[in-house]
Amino acid sequence: MEIIIKPDASAAQEEAARIIARQIQNKPDCVLGLATGATPVGVYAWLVAQHQKGRLDFSRARTFNLDEYVGLGPDHPQSYREFMRLHLFSKVNLRSENIHFPDGLTADIPAHCAEYEEAIRRTGGIEVQLLGIGSEGHIGFNEPSSSLASRTRIKTLTPKTAADNAKFFGGADKVPHHVITMGVGTIMEARECLLVALGAGKAEAVAGMAEGPITADLPASVLQMHPRCKLIVDEAAAAKLRRSEYYRWVYDNKPAWQRV
Ligand code: PGA
Repeated sequence: MEIIIKPDASAAQEEAARIIARQIQNKPDCVLGLATGATPVGVYAWLVAQHQKGRLDFSRARTFNLDEYVGLGPDHPQSYREFMRLHLFSKVNLRSENIHFPDGLTADIPAHCAEYEEAIRRTGGIEVQLLGIGSEGHIGFNEPSSSLASRTRIKTLTPKTAADNAKFFGGADKVPHHVITMGVGTIMEARECLLVALGAGKAEAVAGMAEGPITADLPASVLQMHPRCKLIVDEAAAAKLRRSEYYRWVYDNKPAWQRV
């Protein structure tokens, strides 16, 4: 895992956005895995700004989002589909047929999840997967105890996640209990993972996932097994990393050929 510590949130978000932009430029029909939440907002803002300057063309890119709340349709203001419309889809030239999302209103969740997995497979697989991390270590909505081999399925949110997301719903009691999320195994098949973590509230999960044991108790820790994973954090989220001086040295002294 490459660990990149940036001075602040916007520098961390820009680092992740540059990697995604390079992927789109190198392979215009690339398959991107996208995330929601407060963390990627600045990533999308940077990509939108590049698109508006004529530097980034999304017309052939394909996207798969990580998760959606069960019971919320695409028009619900708190649905992740609406979040993505607001922050990215309505501002760039992604084609609607190239956007893929778990359907929070599906009548048959297992069949829909299997179809979602199949749709990812048909594209040849996700090339770059953007990830946030929950304060208890989830990726997607794979909460602690999730199988590290899991596929897209229904999950139940922990009380901590409901509390963390209460601000978007006007109270933890209004956060849906269930979600559809790509599984840990699904995420692990992406060719590259970019996990962005910002703020002191993520410091413990970040230290655990990067330097602790691999455990379903902190699902993001499985990324230690991923052959190509970048962890991009701001100073506050890096505060509990034991080897931060080493990570900084590695990043600052990368040979030019390695700066991709
Ligand atoms: P956040 O959520 O970006 O809103 O902190 C991250 C996550 O839950 O994965």
